[in-house]
Amino acid sequence: MKMIKMMVMLAAFAMAAPISAEAPEDDAASADPPPAAPATVEEIASGVCAGCHNADGNSVIPMNPILAGQHAEYITKQLMDFKATGNEPPKRNSPVMSAMVATLSQEDMKALGAYYAKQKATPSSIAADEKLVEAGKVLYHGGNLGDEIPACASCHGPTGAGIPPHYPAIAGQHAEYTMMQLELFNKAERGGDDNNVMQKVLTRMNPLEKRAVSAYISTMR
Ligand code: HEC
Ligand code: HEC
Repeated sequence: MKMIKMMVMLAAFAMAAPISAEAPEDDAASADPPPAAPATVEEIASGVCAGCHNADGNSVIPMNPILAGQHAEYITKQLMDFKATGNEPPKRNSPVMSAMVATLSQEDMKALGAYYAKQKATPSSIAADEKLVEAGKVLYHGGNLGDEIPACASCHGPTGAGIPPHYPAIAGQHAEYTMMQLELFNKAERGGDDNNVMQKVLTRMNPLEKRAVSAYISTMR
């Protein structure tokens, strides 16, 4: 009996010890406020990022990408591409996103990738023109042999789910955002695509084909 009482006391002491060790001392040192804890990834996502991408990464603004369900490594890579390194300008030139990543550490970018990857994606619900969607569907799955345009499906998958870590998921993305990215790749204004695969694909596509495929992608589920 005595032994058990002793053990309970010891256990209680062991639990209390770390807390009392951190308790502020009753002297002048405690006048300084404790340093703020670093923001958690949830706080970052539901704070500064939420205004444009929503807290769960399901942006409803057609210019801003849906991030929910995207592969973690891809999101992390894109965040790093928005960041200038040394004297090098960022590979992806977006004044908005470059300002956003300026204060993020490598660990934050990794954690944000994991955070958005595990959110359930809500695909774009913006209505798309049916004829455009039909034309885009043919191009997405079969490419265009005459113009040597490869099928998007060969790298982004038949359902648009992509192949991690290099080929992003694109199904259900807002057409306006996709179109903007296709233009940026085409004009070589979006870097970070190491073998320039997207640029090679796009130099062979006319504006109508780009619009059609963007419309189709927004309807993929
Ligand atoms: C003021 C609006 C705004 C805010 C705030 C914002 N973003 Fe963005 N984000 C954008 C826009 C616009 C783009 C597309 C940029 C481009 O390609 O020109 C983008 C692109 C991205 C991409 C690339 C996605 C892809 O599919 O390639 C990621 C990842 C991203 N944002 C994450 C974040 C994170 C994380 C935060 C918070 C730290 C954040 N964004 C805050 C507007 C915003
Ligand atoms: C040979 C492989 C390949 C083919 C074919 C291909 N892509 Fe890509 N695509 C890529 C790679 C790799 C990236 C990522 C580049 C990076 O890391 O920034 C990408 C990125 C993208 C993105 C940017 C996604 C985002 O949110 O950042 C879009 C949109 C896209 N591709 C659309 C298409 C479309 C439409 C087609 C067909 C016309 C196509 N791709 C064909 C390899 C390919």
